[in-house]
Amino acid sequence: MSGRVFALALLAGLWAAPAGARAPDDDAACRRCHAGLEGEFFTLANGDTLPAWVTPEEHFGSVHGDDIGCRDCHPTVGDHPHAPPAAADARTYRIQASAGCTDCHFKHATALRDSMHYERLMNGDDAAPTCVDCHGAHGVQPAAVPRQAVSDRCGACHEEQVRDWRASAHGQAVLAGNEDAPVCADCHGAHAITDPRAPAAHAASFTVCARCHGDARMMTRHGLDPGVVDSYLSDFHGASNRIYEALGDAPKAPVASCGDCHGVHTVQSFAGLSDDERAARAAAMCQDCHREANDDFATAWGSHTPPSQQHRPIVWIVGLVYKLMIPLMIVGLIAHILMDLWRTPGRDREEGLS
Ligand code: HEC
Ligand code: HEC
Ligand code: HEC
Ligand code: HEC
Ligand code: HEC
Ligand code: HEC
Ligand code: HEC
Ligand code: HEC
Ligand code: HEC
Repeated sequence: MSGRVFALALLAGLWAAPAGARAPDDDAACRRCHAGLEGEFFTLANGDTLPAWVTPEEHFGSVHGDDIGCRDCHPTVGDHPHAPPAAADARTYRIQASAGCTDCHFKHATALRDSMHYERLMNGDDAAPTCVDCHGAHGVQPAAVPRQAVSDRCGACHEEQVRDWRASAHGQAVLAGNEDAPVCADCHGAHAITDPRAPAAHAASFTVCARCHGDARMMTRHGLDPGVVDSYLSDFHGASNRIYEALGDAPKAPVASCGDCHGVHTVQSFAGLSDDERAARAAAMCQDCHREANDDFATAWGSHTPPSQQHRPIVWIVGLVYKLMIPLMIVGLIAHILMDLWRTPGRDREEGLS
C-alpha cells in the first residue's frame, strides 16, 4: 500500500520541495543531538524499531557530505521534540522517506518510473525497491564503486541470481577486477528495468550480449572470438529470431538466443575444455529444446565458427564449389539464351525463304 504513496509522489512530484539553499549550520543542532544518540532506537506504531543515531562519519562521508543537510531530506520533521512519524512500520517509513530523493534526482526518478519495479510498487507490492534499498540513505556512496557493489545491491533481494552470477565466468571476472565483464545493471539497466522474460524481450535479448561480444576491441582484449554475434545472426536460430523481431511476433516455441545456450546468469567459459568436453556441454545446451540431441547433433552443427580450410574443410569446399558454380551457371545460362535469340530470327528467315 505504502508503495503507492511513493509511486504517486514520483509520478506527480508531490513531495514538498526543500526550501532552497540552506546554511548547513541550520542543521548543527540536529546533527549534534543525533550523533549523541548512538545505540538508541525508537519504536514505530507496529513495534518495528529504527536507529535514532546518525554518525557524522556516515553523514559527511557520503556523496552528499556537507552540501545536503538533514532538513533537505527531512523537510517535514520539525524541531525536537518531534511529532511521531506518520509511517506505522519500517518498510512504509523507508518508502515514504525515499520520495525525498526524487526532488533533486529527477532524471533517475523519471527512469525508475519506467521500470517494472515501480509498476510493482504502484500495484501495492512493498517488496519492490525504492531509492534507499539500492543506495542507502545517510551513507550514499557512488553506486558502481567497486563494480561488484552493483550486483551485491540487487542481490540483497535477488539471491539466486547473484549466487549464479558470482559463480559464472562474468562474475568471476568482475570479482578479479575485470572492468569489462557485466554486473547486473549492464544487462538490465539500473532504474528503467523492464521484464526480461517477455516474449519480445527474448527474441531481442541477443542485443544485450552483442553490445560487448560484438565489440571487436573489447573481445580481443580478452582473447575471445569477436565473430560470435555475426555467426549467431547468420545461423538458423539468429536468422529466425530476427524475423520474429522484425514482424513483432512471438514464435510458438522459443528459438535459441545467446542466453538459452550459455545461460544468462550462469555463463561458463570454454577455455581449457577438451573436444569431448566441449561436445558434451554443447549437446546439453541443445537438449533443453531438441530433446533427441546427442553429442553428434551438437558437433554436426558448426557452432560459431564459420567453415574454413581448418574448420570443417568439407563444408568449406562444398561452399567454395557453390560459389564458383553459381556464377558459372548464370553466365552459361545467359550465354545460352543469347545464342538461342541470335539463332531464332535466322531460322525464321530461312523458314520465310523456303
Ligand atoms: C535534542 C535531541 C534532538 C534534536 C535537536 C533533534 N532530534 Fe531528531 N530525534 C531525536 C530522538 C530522541 C529521536 C527518536 C524519536 C523520538 O523520540 O522522537 C529523533 C527522531 C528523528 C527522526 C526519525 C523519526 C521521524 O520523525 O522521522 C528524524 C528524521 C529526525 N529525528 C530528524 C531530526 C532533524 C532534521 C532535526 C533538526 C531539525 C532533529 N532531528 C533534531 C532527537 C533529536
Ligand atoms: C540524502 C537524504 C538524507 C539526509 C541528508 C539525511 N537523511 Fe535521515 N533519512 C533519510 C532516509 C531516506 C531515511 C529512511 C532510511 C531507511 O528507511 O532506512 C532516513 C531516516 C532517518 C532516521 C530514522 C532512522 C533510520 O536510519 O532509518 C533518522 C533518525 C534520521 N534519518 C535523521 C537524520 C539526521 C539527524 C540527518 C542529518 C545529520 C539526516 N537524517 C540526514 C534521508 C536523509
Ligand atoms: C537536496 C537535494 C538532494 C537530495 C534530497 C538528494 N540528493 Fe543525492 N545528490 C545531490 C547532489 C547535489 C549530489 C552531487 C552530484 C554530483 O556531485 O554530481 C548528489 C549525489 C548523489 C549520488 C552520487 C552521484 C554520483 O554521480 O556519484 C547518489 C547515488 C545520490 N545522490 C543518491 C541520492 C539518494 C538515494 C537520495 C535520497 C536518500 C538523495 N540522493 C537525495 C542532491 C540531492
Ligand atoms: C534497483 C536498484 C536501484 C534503484 C531502485 C535506484 N537506483 Fe539509482 N542507481 C542504481 C545503480 C546500480 C546505479 C549505478 C549506475 C548504473 O550502473 O547505471 C545507480 C545510479 C544512480 C545515480 C548516479 C550515481 C552513480 O553513482 O552513477 C543517482 C544520482 C541515482 N542512482 C539516484 C537514484 C534515485 C534518486 C533513486 C530513486 C528515485 C534511485 N537511484 C533508485 C540502482 C538503483
Ligand atoms: C528491495 C528488493 C529489490 C532490490 C534491491 C532489487 N529488486 Fe529486482 N525485483 C524485486 C521484486 C519484489 C521484483 C518483482 C518480481 C518478483 O516477484 O520476483 C523484482 C523484479 C525484478 C526483475 C524482473 C523479474 C521478473 O520476474 O519479471 C528484474 C530483471 C530485476 N528485478 C532486476 C533487478 C536488478 C538488476 C536490481 C539491481 C540494480 C534489482 N532488481 C534490485 C525486488 C528487488
Ligand atoms: C549478461 C547479462 C545479464 C547479467 C549480468 C544479469 N542478467 Fe538477469 N537476466 C538477463 C536476461 C537476458 C534475462 C532473461 C532470461 C530469460 O529470457 O529467461 C535475465 C533474467 C533475470 C531475472 C528474471 C528471473 C530469471 O532468473 O530469469 C531476474 C530477477 C534477474 N535477471 C536479475 C539479475 C540480477 C540480480 C543480476 C546480478 C546479480 C543479473 N540479473 C545479472 C541478463 C543478465
Ligand atoms: C558488459 C559487457 C558484456 C556483456 C553485456 C556480456 N558479456 Fe560475456 N563476457 C564479457 C567479457 C569481458 C568476458 C571475458 C571474461 C574473462 O576475461 O574471463 C565475457 C565472457 C563470456 C563467456 C565466456 C567465454 C569463454 O569461453 O571464456 C561467455 C560464454 C559469454 N561471455 C557469454 C555472454 C552472453 C550469453 C551474454 C548475454 C546474455 C554476455 N556474455 C553479455 C563481457 C560481456
Ligand atoms: C545454439 C547454441 C548457441 C547459441 C545460440 C550461441 N552460442 Fe555461443 N557458443 C555455443 C557453443 C557450443 C560454444 C563453444 C564453441 C566451440 O567450442 O567451438 C560457444 C562459444 C561462445 C563463446 C566463446 C568463444 C571463444 O572465443 O572461445 C562466446 C563468447 C559465445 N559463445 C557467445 C555467444 C553470444 C554472444 C551469442 C549470441 C549472439 C551466442 N554465443 C549464441 C553455443 C551457442
Ligand atoms: C531455446 C531452445 C533452443 C535451443 C537451446 C537450441 N535450439 Fe535449435 N532450434 C530451436 C527452434 C525453436 C528451432 C526452429 C526455428 C524455426 O524454424 O523458427 C531450431 C532450429 C534448429 C535447427 C534447424 C533445423 C530444425 O530442426 O528446424 C538446427 C540444426 C538446430 N536448431 C540445432 C541446434 C543445436 C546444435 C543446438 C545446441 C548447440 C540448438 N539447436 C539449441 C530451439 C532451440
